[in-house]
Amino acid sequence: MTENQLVVSAASAVEKNEMSAPMQLLNFMSGHILAKCLNVAAELGIADLLKDGPKSINYLAEKTGSDSHALLRIIRTLASQGVFKELNDHIIDQSQLSIFLQDGVEGSQRNFIRMFSGEWHWKVINNLKNAVKKGDQVLTDSLGAESLWDYFAKQNPEAGETFSLAMSSLSSSFNEPLASAYDFSEFISIIDIGGSQGSFVNTIIKYNPHLEGFVLDLPEVVEVAKEYQEGSQLKYIPGSFFEEIPQKTDCQLLRFIIHDWSDEDCLRILRNCRAAIKPAGKLLPAGKLLIAEHVIQTDNSPGFEKALDIAMLINFGTARERTEEEFRRLLEASGFKLNNIIPTSCPLSIIEAVPV
Ligand SMILES: C[S@@+](CC[C@H](N)C(=O)[O-])C[C@H]1O[C@@H](n2cnc3c(N)ncnc32)[C@H](O)[C@@H]1O
Repeated sequence: MTENQLVVSAASAVEKNEMSAPMQLLNFMSGHILAKCLNVAAELGIADLLKDGPKSINYLAEKTGSDSHALLRIIRTLASQGVFKELNDHIIDQSQLSIFLQDGVEGSQRNFIRMFSGEWHWKVINNLKNAVKKGDQVLTDSLGAESLWDYFAKQNPEAGETFSLAMSSLSSSFNEPLASAYDFSEFISIIDIGGSQGSFVNTIIKYNPHLEGFVLDLPEVVEVAKEYQEGSQLKYIPGSFFEEIPQKTDCQLLRFIIHDWSDEDCLRILRNCRAAIKPAGKLLPAGKLLIAEHVIQTDNSPGFEKALDIAMLINFGTARERTEEEFRRLLEASGFKLNNIIPTSCPLSIIEAVPV
């Protein structure tokens, strides 16, 4: 297209009330402003202040210790994207989207937003260009820490707490959608490998009470998990998935594990799974390995997993979200065959693999 044609096409898009290509680019570019507005609204707890009905901007400003004019500008920007609504006379109301900025509602994204667009992450993403140049994480230089865990421990325990809240609320919001997307009735025993407190396997057992359930995690995690799960039927196994999976079962779960590690580390984990999965018996088929992860689509479609993949790069380097082909290759190299990919009503898919 010549420059002249570009101008004409931009003008005709404006006439048709469509956004022109240059404007679409500007809109993308201002995504960081939107993200920070969302973060500020989540930090200030604006959505919680609106849960009993619309409030004036002056009320919201007073309750959050904010300047009412500046707060109105933030809320208007968010309302342009459907988060909150401005009624007449500077009265602000909840919207379908802002409901999920509230604390404690099913599907709440408040803590995840506080974490994902919070200050430490902002510093790291600011170095994305360096991450692209070297193909590795930039967290250590950005935060002056050995790792994210070191940063939380030595510099910012409060951010560490928000991170834990964000991850556990995200994980637990996926329990029901994943448990209801797959038929677990054929199995006898199930182990959640790197299963933390065991909330996922507990949800599966709620619907399949015949299952014997196990959770493998690091000794320090198992110690804490046991306290939370008093009265549960789960058996907790302290250990490392890099050493061995000490319990043979006919169903193995790996949720949010594979995306944390390099291909080499994943192969070590998967080969240990292969060694511990129940082989086919006279009457029973061989066990199944179920990996619950985002699957990166390669068809130019939008998806949160692509942004998450950038976060894995800048924060952890070799950690990554993977495509179907990448999962298939890892599974084949560790003695499994990818059998099926089951989409669910949450962003994670269940990748079903069988031993070969
Ligand atoms: C991202 S969390 C996922 C937790 C859980 N699977 C979920 O979906 O909520 C990763 C888990 O792996 C555990 N983990 C890390 N290294 C491990 C190892 N070497 N052996 C066993 N578990 C490990 C962590 O303690 C943590 O519980």
